Formats: sequence, structure tokens, C-alpha cells
Amino acid sequence: MRAFLFANPAAHSRSPAMHNAAFGVAGFAAVYQALQVLPEDLPAAIASLRSQGVLGANLSLPHKEAALPLLDELTPAARVIGAVNTIINRAGVLVGDNTDAPGFLEALNMASAPQRGRAVVLGAGGAARAAVWALLSEGWAVRVVNRTAGKAVALTEDLGGLACTLDTVPWPEIDLIVNASSAGLDAPEQSPLPEVPALAPGALVYDMVYKPAETRLMRDARAAGYRAENGLGMLAQQARLAFLAWTGTDVPVRVFLEALGVQAA
Ligand code: ATR
Repeated sequence: MRAFLFANPAAHSRSPAMHNAAFGVAGFAAVYQALQVLPEDLPAAIASLRSQGVLGANLSLPHKEAALPLLDELTPAARVIGAVNTIINRAGVLVGDNTDAPGFLEALNMASAPQRGRAVVLGAGGAARAAVWALLSEGWAVRVVNRTAGKAVALTEDLGGLACTLDTVPWPEIDLIVNASSAGLDAPEQSPLPEVPALAPGALVYDMVYKPAETRLMRDARAAGYRAENGLGMLAQQARLAFLAWTGTDVPVRVFLEALGVQAA
């Protein structure tokens, strides 16, 4: 059996390490392979997943949105978020799913985030859409702030929540900040927040960025006395949920975390 990642670039992906470790633990004779797929080759790559012996694939940049019209079915999460990170081959029928959103919620649980409250999501791309959809589904009040304000407005018109600017967020009431922007990605000194303001007691800052493992936003949050987590937990949980969808086997998240070099508690 085989499963794939389609991405461009694909070489530095950490998904093969996670899924191949999980195949080993689950006792499956299967291989997960990361393939560099150019945008013009995506339709053929997706069509090839209908073959017998193929469990499915993960999609990453830049294919998560482009794949939607190429699939036979979409889960409600994938349809509403407008992004697919996992394709499941069900006997030749390709189902597009989004495990980023539930994976994000599982990661919040692992980080002992407040159960529900007021959240600010920074960013308005596909990752932000997954976070906003997930938080709203759990009853959070969600504000969205984006560098390009109009995109935050469009996102909230589409999914719900309230578009804000940094100046109009009631920071002392905020229990959770989620960085779903690419600020800080491969840029240790870049932050989507010029400074971390006073937040609600016990607030958590969740940065979806995991490279570097500690971003400037996380450092600033810790210096201000708040808890901060990087995106490795979400990376592991979205992989665990994709693996579960492909195989029906729920391999413990610890296996995925260890493949990422994180010692699970
Ligand atoms: P993804 O699919 O991972 O969400 P994306 O759709 O490219 O990626 O979205 C990237 C997000 O990061 C956008 O919200 C972008 O803001 P703009 O809409 O203004 O482009 C945000 N972003 C990128 N670099 C940023 C930076 N240096 N500071 C703040 N926001 C940034």
C-alpha cells in the first residue's frame, strides 16, 4: 500500500517520517512518499490516486485549494474551509478532507488551552480559515486580524467571526491568540504582533509556525508571562487524523510527535 504527499517544494517535508513511523507501529506493509508536483501536474497526480493499493495523499503548498474541483466528494470541513489537506481513496472514489481543522483543536487540547472563550486569529489564508472554522465550531468568539484588512473581512463574511484591526481587539479579554499567518516562518525575528499586550489570565498563544521551533511571537508571549506553543502539535495531529482516515487505525499521537523529534509527555 502507498500514500503520498503532493507539494511544491516537497523535499523538506516531515510527513514521510511521521507516516512511515506510523505504518511501522501499526504493522502495515506500506510506504509514504513525498513527491514534488507542479501545479500543472496536479490533475494527473490526483487521478493516479484512484489506483488499487493507494490509500490516498496529503496536499501541501500550493495545492490545498486547487484540488477541490478535482475530487469526487468533499467532507463538510473541506468544503466550508475551501482547502483539502488529505485525500482518501475509497475504492476509486476520491474524498477530499481537511484534518488541519480538527488537528488544530486536538493540538489546543494537548496544550491545555482554555475550553472556550475569546480568540484572535492572525492571518486570513487557508490556515486561518481552518482555525476560524474549528474555533467557531467549538463555540469560541473569534476575531480575525490580517495584514491586508480586506481579506479578514472577506473571511469573516464567509465563515463567521468578527474582522478587527490590532487597535480594535479588546486584548485584556482575549484567552487565545492563534498565529495562522506566515509571519515568523523561517524568519526568527518576524512577528505578526509588534508586541504582546496584556491578555486574559491564563491566555495561550498558539503559533502554527514550527520552523523555527520558537518564534519571536512565542518568545514575546512567554516574556509577557503567557504560555506559548508552536505548531508541531498540530502537524502531528493532522497527520494522525489523516492516517486514521486512510487505515482505520488510530496510532497514538506520540508516534507522530517522536518522528518530529518531540518527546511526548
Ligand atoms: P496559508 O495557506 O498557509 O494560510 P496564505 O494563504 O499564503 O498561506 O496566507 C498567508 C497569511 O499570512 C496571509 O494572511 C498573509 O497576510 P496578507 O493577506 O496581508 O498577505 C499573512 N502574512 C504573511 N506574511 C506576513 C507578515 N510578515 N506579517 C503579517 N502577516 C503576514
